[in-house]
Amino acid sequence: MKNKVLGLGLGLAVVMSGSAVAAEGLDLAKASGCLACHAVEKKVVGPAWQDVAAKYKGDAAARDVLVSKVKAGGKGNWNEVTGGVPMPPYSPRVADADIEKLVDFILAL
Ligand code: HEC
Repeated sequence: MKNKVLGLGLGLAVVMSGSAVAAEGLDLAKASGCLACHAVEKKVVGPAWQDVAAKYKGDAAARDVLVSKVKAGGKGNWNEVTGGVPMPPYSPRVADADIEKLVDFILAL
């Protein structure tokens, strides 16, 4: 019984810290201007971030590639979704550490 209660408490703590990270990620995205073109669940100008996470799931190199892409901008990976609109460059407007946080947040969706 004691273990069960403990387990439940731990589970809740994990769920709560997970959503705190998500809220932080979204706040950072908002502050960085990303939400003008992105949403988690639907395409806006850029692809839905949920779809970005799905596309690169299990791809160990994706984090670096996406960090570079957010820093330098680029196009061509989502033509069928965006019609060929480019992703603008964000470095140095957004700090490198924040870009890494944003990519981690997106890939964890
Ligand atoms: C002006 C609109 C716009 C803004 C603002 C914008 N994006 Fe994008 N984003 C795009 C478009 C368009 C694409 C699709 C590019 C492509 O086809 O390769 C994209 C793609 C992406 C991808 C996937 C890249 C890939 O190669 O698969 C990530 C990750 C991303 N954006 C993150 C961000 C982050 C983080 C921010 C804020 C710092 C941001 N975007 C701001 C338009 C935007």
